[in-house]
Amino acid sequence: MNTTPNMLSLLNTRKPNHSLERPFYTDPEIFAADLENIHYREWLFAIPSCEIPKTGNFVTYKVGEYSVVIVRGADQQIRAFHNTCRHRGSVICKVAKGTAPKLVCPYHQWTYELDGSLLWARDMGPEFDPSQHGLKTVHCRTVAGLVYICLADDAPDFEEFKSVAEPYLQSHDLENAKVAFESTIIENGNWKLVWENNRECYHCGGNHPALCRTYSDDPSITGVEGDEAPEHLQAHFDRCEAVGLTSKFHINQDGQYRLARMPLKDGAQSYTMDTKPAVTKPLGRIALPDAGALVKFHYPTTWNHFLPDHSIVFRVTPVSPTETEVTTKWLVNKDAVEGVDYDIKRLTEVWEATNDEDRRVVEDNQQGINSPIYEPGPYSPTQESGVIQFVDWYCKTLQKGLSPITLAAE
Ligand code: FES
Ligand SMILES: [Fe+2]
Repeated sequence: MNTTPNMLSLLNTRKPNHSLERPFYTDPEIFAADLENIHYREWLFAIPSCEIPKTGNFVTYKVGEYSVVIVRGADQQIRAFHNTCRHRGSVICKVAKGTAPKLVCPYHQWTYELDGSLLWARDMGPEFDPSQHGLKTVHCRTVAGLVYICLADDAPDFEEFKSVAEPYLQSHDLENAKVAFESTIIENGNWKLVWENNRECYHCGGNHPALCRTYSDDPSITGVEGDEAPEHLQAHFDRCEAVGLTSKFHINQDGQYRLARMPLKDGAQSYTMDTKPAVTKPLGRIALPDAGALVKFHYPTTWNHFLPDHSIVFRVTPVSPTETEVTTKWLVNKDAVEGVDYDIKRLTEVWEATNDEDRRVVEDNQQGINSPIYEPGPYSPTQESGVIQFVDWYCKTLQKGLSPITLAAE
């Protein structure tokens, strides 16, 4: 059954500035369409490059039905490959991360170089051409220490994002970071509910006591009206720019990504319970202790907070219509020593609590939507402009993906 026209009519008839119809949060076919038209087409943040600092270090990442291995080669270049053997298709790297001099398939030991070329395959006969059986590549680009992949045959442009993001990120020196701690949780909610929740702080006061010590729930911080930034924000951007930190609000034309250096509450310096830095040997070169958080989102997989002392990267991966994986990595200076320069609990407790609180509200949101009585409700124009922006981006992107199919069928 071709359900595309149904999806398109649901998109075309949606109530603007309202949450989506129930099937967008529950239906397996819409979930499949999300993957097909968004996650399999767009650039996806995968890992910080510091996670694979040495030759042979690799990380695997599962996106929908694809498994990808991201590996650092002997030439130090980071590449991504489909984690599917070119012999009979076995998965090659079975663990989440590791180190290997070559990529060896566990089934019949076909052996691939770190650049994906096939080095060795036993008894394949004189006709066999190894050069035709290298690992299939996945587009892979790095911007200031953040590794992005794209599963599409033809990847969309990456250069614009790279040239915009680099000046903001360079003073955070992410290439000289290490992962101090990481957590992966499954939220029992649709991936768009995870994003909708992220894109507003209407819920913060009622749900995030620890985060609210330092993170302001002022809607202009989470929102997307930065072109007309209120005076206090503009003053903060100006103060940071004056010391050489690219800071002013930037959202790209189609709304896929936004960057801005936002002040924390009352001169707070980091996301800690006492508002002071969590790491004494800072990551990056941020001369202003109260420069706040460089906040960045890039749909559909990441939001980040880059602080004067450390950075936090989040990755959102859909698992099923009602399950989403959220991975959080805390990055610190690679020379910072645990127990001396930072304490893991102090570094992570605010966002560990916040993630769990967000998981709960997203799951409650999903539970309510699962009832047939649910109907789309209105977003607050002042508090939830970021959610409206996300949902508009989602609908537009899905529509764009679905439309050629419909046009061809007509
Ligand atoms: S499937 Fe990989 S070596 Fe046979
Ligand atoms: Fe939250």
